[in-house]
Amino acid sequence: MATYTTTRSEALYLAAQDVIAGGVNSGARGPGAGWVPGPPVVDHGSGAYLWDVDGNRYCDYLLALGPMVHGHAHPVITEAVTKAIHETGTMFALPYPQEAEAARKIVEMVPSVELVRFGNSGTEVVLHATRLARAFTGRDIIVRFEGQYHGWADQLEWSHHPDLAKAGPREHPRALSGTPGIPEVIGQTLEVLPWNDQGAVERLVAEKGDRIAGILTEPIMGNTGVIPPKPGYLAFLREITRRRAIVLIFDEVISGFRVAPGGAQELYGVTPDLTTMAKALGGGFPAAAIGGRRDIMDLVSDGAVLHAGTYNANTVAVAATNASLDVLRTPGTHERLFRLSEKLMAGMAATFERIGVPVQVQGVGPMFQFWFSETPVVDYRDAARHLNSPKYAALALELHRRGVMVHPSNIELWFVSTVHTDADIDETLQAFEDSVQATKATLTRADD
Ligand SMILES: Cc1ncc(COP(=O)(O)O)c(C=O)c1O
Repeated sequence: MATYTTTRSEALYLAAQDVIAGGVNSGARGPGAGWVPGPPVVDHGSGAYLWDVDGNRYCDYLLALGPMVHGHAHPVITEAVTKAIHETGTMFALPYPQEAEAARKIVEMVPSVELVRFGNSGTEVVLHATRLARAFTGRDIIVRFEGQYHGWADQLEWSHHPDLAKAGPREHPRALSGTPGIPEVIGQTLEVLPWNDQGAVERLVAEKGDRIAGILTEPIMGNTGVIPPKPGYLAFLREITRRRAIVLIFDEVISGFRVAPGGAQELYGVTPDLTTMAKALGGGFPAAAIGGRRDIMDLVSDGAVLHAGTYNANTVAVAATNASLDVLRTPGTHERLFRLSEKLMAGMAATFERIGVPVQVQGVGPMFQFWFSETPVVDYRDAARHLNSPKYAALALELHRRGVMVHPSNIELWFVSTVHTDADIDETLQAFEDSVQATKATLTRADD
């Protein structure tokens, strides 16, 4: 193994702290999220690889936390974006043909979507989905689930990864704001439940169904490692929301276009009323969308419900979206993503088995994670005792040394892109085996 040094990264990260708060531009990139003592500073990315400023090369499974579904600087996306800048200009506050082209692709691909509006980030479009649900039903309460993330806005950054000492009983959690600065009163507009638990939803809906505007859920939990839905759970949510005229919102910011051309709703055959999409949609550019049933989306058509945004559907985001969706809807793309990811997951599981460490490798195709747990992890409370695992952090560090880029916290996940190859997966599995051997003493400790 070549010597691994990060001295230039450390120096640049330190210097950046003079002018950037904490030296990073999102909480997920700093020591608080697990990058201890600091994150590698990137020089550039190309295809499935990243290079840091010390010249270390990494096969990238962080993929910018999901958007880089086609790797870095994908030629089709780069060409589409540069062409848009040169030939179209960037913004007009007027419509132009390519935005309808992108919307039409989404309508064709995502089963429940009849009408679309574009935005710039997942946070924005999820906020908008909750506004639409409230406007459509005339009710106030949004139900959200522990362990899920729907963006950083005051209205939804609640009980994301709550402190269980304060979070109340499992069957009836207390809504806890995720950061100082959020007015407590907003908590009264939310109900928080454990995920994957039909009984909890049934009890709440029986008690307060007439006040519930929407149930908001990631169809595959991707913000506490990866927790797939239990069989029948999404169909149950569909049935109970339909029965009580509650708007079912799938937050497909991570799963959208990634686990199937039409996202988790296509994969599981369950159609929500509204869907939020970002990340893979823009293939590395800030693009997001909300879409859904015509009668609900029509509330914004005539301005009855406000949807706005200076940068919505700018030509760069739309060109990236058109190109990203073209690649994603090319036949065979998802089969390949699943084949490579399943090979990686199976290889990881086999490595752990060889050294006798009980692990649950959990995921759906190109989004997965593993838990140092004897049994499958089904919800946040189950996951909580394995979160920010020191074993995982130790293993991630060894992976970095061997040229594999993953987030150092198992709160995050591994992503596989459309440009990873069999050779990449083979090399990663070798690095994985070596990293596991190097951390064997830590990994085989009884505690985590
Ligand atoms: C499921 C989900 N919803 C919403 C968001 C917020 O998206 P953004 O960071 O683009 O605002 C995220 C971000 O990770 C997410 O994972």
